Amino acid sequence: MQKITTYSFAKLSVFISCLLVNFLAVNAQEKTSLDEGWKFHFGNSAHPEKDFDYGNTLLLHKSNVFETTIISPKFVDTAWSKINVPHDWVVALPFVKSSTHEMDSHGYKPVGGLYPETSIGWYRKHFTVDKSKSNKRFEIQFDGIYRNAAIWINGFYVGTNFSGYLGKSYDITDYMNFDTENVMVVRVDATQSEGWFYEGAGIYRHVWLNSTDKIFIPEGGLFVHSEVKGKNAIVNIETTVQNNTFNTSNSTIYAYITDRNGKFIAKTSEQKITLASAKNTIVKQKLNLNNAHLWSLENPYLYKVISVVKSENKIVHQTKTRFGIRTLKFDAQEGFFLNGKHLKIQGTNNHQDHAGIGSALPDYMQYYRIKLLKKMGSNAYRTSHHAPTPELLEACDSLGMLVLDEQRLLNSSPEYIDQFERLIRRDRNHPSVFLWSIGNEEGGIQKTEYGKKIAQSLLAIQKDLDPFRTSTYAADMGNEFKGVNEVIPIRGFNYREYAVADYHRDHPNQPLLGTEMGSTVTTRGIYEKDSIRAYVPDQDITAPWWASKAETWWKLAAENDYWLGGFVWTGFDYRGEPTPYQWPNINSHFGIMDVCGFPKNIYYYYQSWWTNEDVLHISPHWNWPEKLGEPIDVWVNSNADGVELFLNGKSLGKKAMPRNSHLQWQVNYEPGTLEAIGYKKGKKITSKIETTGQVLIVVLSPDKNLLTADGKDATVINISLTDEKGREVPNANNMISFYLSGDAKIIGVGNGDPSSHEPDQCKVGAWQRSAFNGKCQVIIQAGKSVGSIKLEAKSNGLQSGSAIINLVKS
Ligand code: GAL
Repeated sequence: MQKITTYSFAKLSVFISCLLVNFLAVNAQEKTSLDEGWKFHFGNSAHPEKDFDYGNTLLLHKSNVFETTIISPKFVDTAWSKINVPHDWVVALPFVKSSTHEMDSHGYKPVGGLYPETSIGWYRKHFTVDKSKSNKRFEIQFDGIYRNAAIWINGFYVGTNFSGYLGKSYDITDYMNFDTENVMVVRVDATQSEGWFYEGAGIYRHVWLNSTDKIFIPEGGLFVHSEVKGKNAIVNIETTVQNNTFNTSNSTIYAYITDRNGKFIAKTSEQKITLASAKNTIVKQKLNLNNAHLWSLENPYLYKVISVVKSENKIVHQTKTRFGIRTLKFDAQEGFFLNGKHLKIQGTNNHQDHAGIGSALPDYMQYYRIKLLKKMGSNAYRTSHHAPTPELLEACDSLGMLVLDEQRLLNSSPEYIDQFERLIRRDRNHPSVFLWSIGNEEGGIQKTEYGKKIAQSLLAIQKDLDPFRTSTYAADMGNEFKGVNEVIPIRGFNYREYAVADYHRDHPNQPLLGTEMGSTVTTRGIYEKDSIRAYVPDQDITAPWWASKAETWWKLAAENDYWLGGFVWTGFDYRGEPTPYQWPNINSHFGIMDVCGFPKNIYYYYQSWWTNEDVLHISPHWNWPEKLGEPIDVWVNSNADGVELFLNGKSLGKKAMPRNSHLQWQVNYEPGTLEAIGYKKGKKITSKIETTGQVLIVVLSPDKNLLTADGKDATVINISLTDEKGREVPNANNMISFYLSGDAKIIGVGNGDPSSHEPDQCKVGAWQRSAFNGKCQVIIQAGKSVGSIKLEAKSNGLQSGSAIINLVKS
């Protein structure tokens, strides 16, 4: 049983009280993580008896009398597995060969109607709350459960969340026990899927217990938006206040803003509100900021607004919300402007899974992935095709990445309207969110009156809840102005880049965005098509019939101002949707990086034209003993003006670099050094690749050497297999075993091989993974003790490697 410890706002309040007015004691609210100490057991969708009699017992005929059932606090769950959330139960399941489309698109994991024994998950959580808090309002907040979750507390049903992506909060005030145990029970039913890609299953995002006074600002009850006026800005703060007491309340509300360093800047006046019991109201306030710092990709400046509600001269609730000030303009002729500056959208589409851990990502992983995309030069992220994890948006806000935030379905039924409203209310304060997407490729309806009417309904909601942004829709249509396209403010193109110019000619006033572009399929470090192992060459040469190569779409987008830009399908490989092959291939090949985030060669194409960094990248590798004297196609990706290539010191010629393209040489193989010299605005840049020796050493590169000892922080450790000179051996596939000492745990391993059926998760003490073309990856999560941890990586016949990481207090 967990005795909860809480994160409280008391400290902040002390600071404010010193700063502003002399308040009486603060009645602080609390937000407590409930991620730790859950119990988990599979249910069964085909056998009620294996589903703890769910379906055989009458759970809804009375409000709470279920002494012997699974939802009862008395139910004995001591034999269940102990887990912490985020938890994705699918990642640990074995791969199962199958010929169904459902299985192949979800990455051959046994979930769905054919696998009743691994499609239902039951979770139970015990916790106690101190009696001193019995006058509070309590709410349980699930940030995301995949999917169709039913939730009970202390035997009382509190709600269902149909969506696998949007979180939901439930008021549980009336059911709380104090000083005695509370038991939360969640039944998760992943039998039906929502997408056609790996989705995972379980409580895969955070869970919070929120307590507030009964006069409070509800979740999503703060909307902050700003207008830029020259060097200054007007910040509009709209705060909802709710009265859940049984009497009319008299309270006051004000808000103040702090800068990036937490320094107080400005405060509104204190406004009176009288609220009848069970009523709420929206209070609108304004603040002027002189010399406002704008949020940009280079300097993602974040302010905070603190909304404060007082009753009887006590602070009863305050919310702290980060926001950014920036302007957005979409122009049908000239493209997109951020803060008045032209910006071509250099975006990627992404699903949410990562190697080793499936969809249950520690927060750190969101930052890790966004940093990788930024380093490549990407400036925008499309959350295809669902509501993102809140921490992904926080990473994008903090690091400077625009977000195209997408609704799961083009559907205006009450369920999906509710999802769209929850999405907008939850995400509209994030400066990174620059555009909404109301859906993706609804082939059955997108050209019809249904499509048009549904789009109109969703657009009306968007305008009502967020008049300061606009929407697109990802249409797999060419030059067609029917259905959704007739009403959508920004026309989205999935593929069909060849039709964009004609569409623009015919509809010159509708801005155009490539919502899914490119989609070259590549396998990292592979240079020959291999239909047995299901690999495709790691160059920009193979695209499915509906898609195109990187150079095809990007040249058009880069060179025509009327393109706002586009989003590549995809930034990272993801599980499921193996293309162009199926089994044994279990993940997609579309990524510019593989599932671990290791760059493929196409990464350097995008990096050359998406950044101002000096890029000079030669591929393939130079280990071809079986091809002595045979011609090899050598590619050079660079943004130099011209490049000269040398084999073992002998020039193979100098070529001018066409913009938004690459260079190629045919080189007869001989071992040694292939060197490129690039000339960029008179400056010389060089790069080389060498034939390596035998694989000899295991080298570990942790992303971070310091972790917070909070049980949550994590780091990626990349493993490279090198020869004696430290050069990575490009085809080394040795098995590596991992030994971790100290207070931390390995939470996943991966290698980017799209046909690997090795487990991503192993038993404690038996962690291992083979390298794939020289590399693999381990993800480690910190424990709670300060000290150091050591990861050793060993492989038969090789020199072991190790990394030491320090765990420090937060
Ligand atoms: C698109 C779709 C994506 C993905 C992609 C694969 O049509 O929107 O979700 O399936 O194709 O090429």
